[in-house]
Amino acid sequence: MKMAVYPGSFDPLTNGHVDIVERALNLFDTVVVSVGLNRDKNSLFTAEERIDMIRQAFAGNPRVKVDCFRGLLMQHVQGLGASAVIRGLRAVSDFEYEFQMANMNRKLCPEAETIFLMTGADNFYLSSSLVKEVAALGAEVKDMVPAVVLAALNRKYGGAK
Ligand code: PNS
Repeated sequence: MKMAVYPGSFDPLTNGHVDIVERALNLFDTVVVSVGLNRDKNSLFTAEERIDMIRQAFAGNPRVKVDCFRGLLMQHVQGLGASAVIRGLRAVSDFEYEFQMANMNRKLCPEAETIFLMTGADNFYLSSSLVKEVAALGAEVKDMVPAVVLAALNRKYGGAK
């Protein structure tokens, strides 16, 4: 059984994240979507809200698991016995940060590979930050996030977008 961890803040989950999970499922038996809690203070959604939305978005797919971690990602990966970390790449601007992180993670845990997957063209412009910004300013985000996230954003920002 091959398992990969897909870590991130997921504040909130977007269709770009969903796209990456679906691509990772073509390569791995199980994908664990792991919500990192180190930078939790400035998040829009609580850890519980984010985990709950991810669970709902992938409800019915037993190959997708959802959990959270605090501290080092690679300790979490080793604890789960996963063989890879999945990260999404959208633009060249993502690369430098991702390259540094992947190399640090390899140093910490040489047994696990970081695998970069590209979102489809429909999603490459999406980020959680931009989705929050445009939702807060009243724009339509229904094509950018799963239905459960859309409902949560509407509750936060009081819109019926
Ligand atoms: O969605 P994000 O904000 O790009 O996710 C970043 C995340 C959570 C994957 C990253 O910050 C992380 O792995 N944090 C755990 C701390 C850690 O392991 N640091 C050392 C590796 S560089």
